[in-house]
Amino acid sequence: MLSVIGKLPSISILLTTGLFCFFASCDSGDIHESEYIHDEGVTLSATFRLNYPELYPDNYNFTFGAFTDAESSPLVSVNLPRPDDEGNIDIRLENIPEEATRIRLCFTDMGRQVKYTFFEQTIDRTSSGDIILPEKEIDLLEYNRIQQLVFQQYNCVSCHQGTSGSANLLLTEGESYRQLVNHPSTRSEKLRVVPYEPDSSFLLDVVTQSEVISYPHTGLITRNDDLELLRCWIGKGCPEN
Ligand code: HEC
Repeated sequence: MLSVIGKLPSISILLTTGLFCFFASCDSGDIHESEYIHDEGVTLSATFRLNYPELYPDNYNFTFGAFTDAESSPLVSVNLPRPDDEGNIDIRLENIPEEATRIRLCFTDMGRQVKYTFFEQTIDRTSSGDIILPEKEIDLLEYNRIQQLVFQQYNCVSCHQGTSGSANLLLTEGESYRQLVNHPSTRSEKLRVVPYEPDSSFLLDVVTQSEVISYPHTGLITRNDDLELLRCWIGKGCPEN
């Protein structure tokens, strides 16, 4: 109790100083500054339900943010917290500036650049006031995520493209699924990918064990999240959505 009373004078000094500074800046006639203080922008609230919450990332920022059409880093953003056991997340994005045209739920890297977008919507400015999005289901296990964050991001497609590709394997968009799932390997007795059986799938051996092919692929996939994504996708039976 004593310590609380002891702190009171310093708090009131801080408050007085703060107020003084506030009025001082008004007195200076700096109109832009005072406009900025009063106009805090729109607030947007959303509820997401995440399917496969176990795929919540460790190596990416899971970002809910407001963007312009041109920029691939957000004007304002918040990190999506880990979901509860049902995968539910309530989130608010505050102070969305006027120039923002769309909101995105996405993975960003350390430089705040978008790596993968799960959900995107233009901001409806026709009604004034705060925005509440209808509840939205988000699938963290999308085949397109594998295509973009594994085969494109780690440049697998630089060798596994063209008419046949290295080891007769194409990992390009539109081809990769067909060339992997239940497909014989050119280098192993195992199939490339066996749905529900990560341990029987040669693809996982190739990217995690250096001795299984003559050109080692270990270390090509640098984020553990992306390896786990492959493993989870196979374990769940290789959904193609
Ligand atoms: C620099 C070229 C190159 C890159 C990049 C590359 N690969 Fe390969 N890949 C090869 C070669 C060459 C082989 C065959 C090696 C051998 O003969 O043992 C191969 C073999 C494979 C196989 C075995 C194919 C089979 O029939 O079983 C898989 C699976 C594979 N790569 C997946 C990938 C993935 C996934 C990536 C990206 C993370 C990747 N590769 C990146 C060149 C590449």
